[in-house]
Amino acid sequence: ATGELKRPETLKFEAVAHSKAAEMSVAAGYNAEMILPLGMPLIAGIDDWKDNREQSAESFEWRMGDNHDGMWFFGKNGGAYDPKASDNGLLVMNHEYVNSAELSPFGYHLIKDNNAAPIFQNRRLASDVRREVNCHGVAVVEMKRRADGKGYEMVRNSKYHRRITSSTVAQLTGPVAGSDWVKTKFDPTGLQTRGINNNCGAGLSPWGTYLTTEENFLGVFARGQDASQLTAGHHYGRERYGAKEDFPGWEYLWHTPEAKDAKIADEFSRWDMTAVGVTAADDYRNGFNTFGYITEIDPFDPQSIPQKRTALGRFAHENCAYAPVEQGKPIVFYMGDDARGEYIYKFVSKATWSNNDIGGGLKAGSKYMDDGTLYVAVFNDDGRGEWKALIHGQSGLDTSNSELPFHGQDEVLIFARAAADVLGATKMDRPEWVSVSPITGEVYVTLTNNKYRGVSADQPVSATNPRSYNVRGKAGGNDNGHIIRWAETGGDHTATSFEWDVYLFAAPYDLATENLSKLNNNNDFSSPDGLYFDPRGVLWIQTDDGAYTDTSSCMLLAALPGKVSDGALTITTAGQQTRVGMPANNDNIKRFFVGPEGCEVTGITLTPDFKTLFINIQHPGNQWGAVAGGKIPRSATVMITKEDGDVILAESFAPS
Ligand code: FEO
Ligand code: CA
Ligand code: CA
Ligand code: CA
Repeated sequence: ATGELKRPETLKFEAVAHSKAAEMSVAAGYNAEMILPLGMPLIAGIDDWKDNREQSAESFEWRMGDNHDGMWFFGKNGGAYDPKASDNGLLVMNHEYVNSAELSPFGYHLIKDNNAAPIFQNRRLASDVRREVNCHGVAVVEMKRRADGKGYEMVRNSKYHRRITSSTVAQLTGPVAGSDWVKTKFDPTGLQTRGINNNCGAGLSPWGTYLTTEENFLGVFARGQDASQLTAGHHYGRERYGAKEDFPGWEYLWHTPEAKDAKIADEFSRWDMTAVGVTAADDYRNGFNTFGYITEIDPFDPQSIPQKRTALGRFAHENCAYAPVEQGKPIVFYMGDDARGEYIYKFVSKATWSNNDIGGGLKAGSKYMDDGTLYVAVFNDDGRGEWKALIHGQSGLDTSNSELPFHGQDEVLIFARAAADVLGATKMDRPEWVSVSPITGEVYVTLTNNKYRGVSADQPVSATNPRSYNVRGKAGGNDNGHIIRWAETGGDHTATSFEWDVYLFAAPYDLATENLSKLNNNNDFSSPDGLYFDPRGVLWIQTDDGAYTDTSSCMLLAALPGKVSDGALTITTAGQQTRVGMPANNDNIKRFFVGPEGCEVTGITLTPDFKTLFINIQHPGNQWGAVAGGKIPRSATVMITKEDGDVILAESFAPS
């Protein structure tokens, strides 16, 4: 077995069977261990989690947060980033959202106040909201290899341990910084905001910082009842981001705790999009516009301020994957906007790459991420596609646009979805994670599912999103998802055209009726979400599914894909020809792990020596992740090692 950067010919582990068990299962020869669960203290002097959940809301500023998601292991040597170091590292991960009912000692608790205006009648406790705010964001955890050489343990009292939450001050950088659209009472200059929120997929920068995302930030903002303070631009911009006129906000109601003084009022009213009842000086109408960005964090500098890199656009960011860097060439980042019928983007830096910037921290981030061009993808039905630039003053992105006039690049980026509409971008079946093959340079994106496909008039089936099933009495839609991929023209990631195909269709409702990618019991899956090419070229696919869990709980698969259009198969759906890349009966995709019932499997990172694979388990069911003697299930990380201590997938590298 070898850990060389060479892709195996075939996958030789024995596929894991379907499972709906309360426990996780991993391929034979591997160990899977739960670590770093919700509520686990990161510093000395605070109690461990207890099922009575009476730990203070404030203590969660120093505990693992909820719903672990994207992550990255940063090799560390001394105090510095070392991409080859494996004995010691910083494991940095997202905490996407909270399961309110399981966090508070009172469950999801509302206090009725009949004297309050309707939107404030159901109030939440300040302590519950503070706990939830603190359970979002990012955790930085220093890990060291265990004495037995297999896997890792947390370093006690590390100075690197850190939580960044939905109340941590963050800097806005790039073209949106200082824009009128991000000026709030907190920072009337529009340069800072409070909090990062709904951090979903993750990315690494080529220089060694962590790129976290802001996805469903919409959910923590509520609309007040008095919208008269909003301009037409506010209204249109909000609607395009899901905040419809009658949208009351999700169940979080972070704006509702009773305000006993001005400071407390400020802490909570900022989650109200209309900031109803406050004076102009208390204006938080633009708070919503300060979320939805790729945010850069330097885990090696615990004092550093998270940087919201606005040049990469504002939308429901899933993850951020860079193309292989080349000395003297621009850096290219690929990104998906995960909502039904949203788009795929890429950012091309103005600055060109220098290997001297590895370890350059946030300064390198400013150099590469604050100036460049954002593009959105148009997929044509003939298997070709184009990238359209989101540049103010070009292609109708100016004040002539009737729905939302664009006065500057700040507006093009803050309302990137609206700008992409003008450019005729292709509405996709919920673009989730992106990853770039180190073997072919081709770019892969999971399209997880889309209940509106073929149902909403503006989302007809097309070659790119060809499935809409009307089964079991439902209206249609793509329930199970697919994975699309493309090759940039000439292999150049800055190119403005590409060739695409569908790599893989996830299982349809019934394997027997239509099984476009010829999946079998060893590899059928649904709703692909997390996606990661490891440096050896193995593609790891994770699922977040509700449509196929009667067959199996969510899972992690390993795959060895070919390249665009090497598959012989062409399918025809609704009159459209779609080329499919996966040859029939391909054994090069296998189920490696199945999570506990009720969970989503997400987030993935391999240590540089390939010997430890970390994945995350979100919202497990039953009692998975519960504290010893407890019952409440908890999100956590899973650490996978090979029983014999060899590299992950070592058996696949062994000569047969
Ligand atoms: Fe947080 Fe799109 O998954
Ligand atoms: Ca996801
Ligand atoms: Ca998902
Ligand atoms: Ca999720």
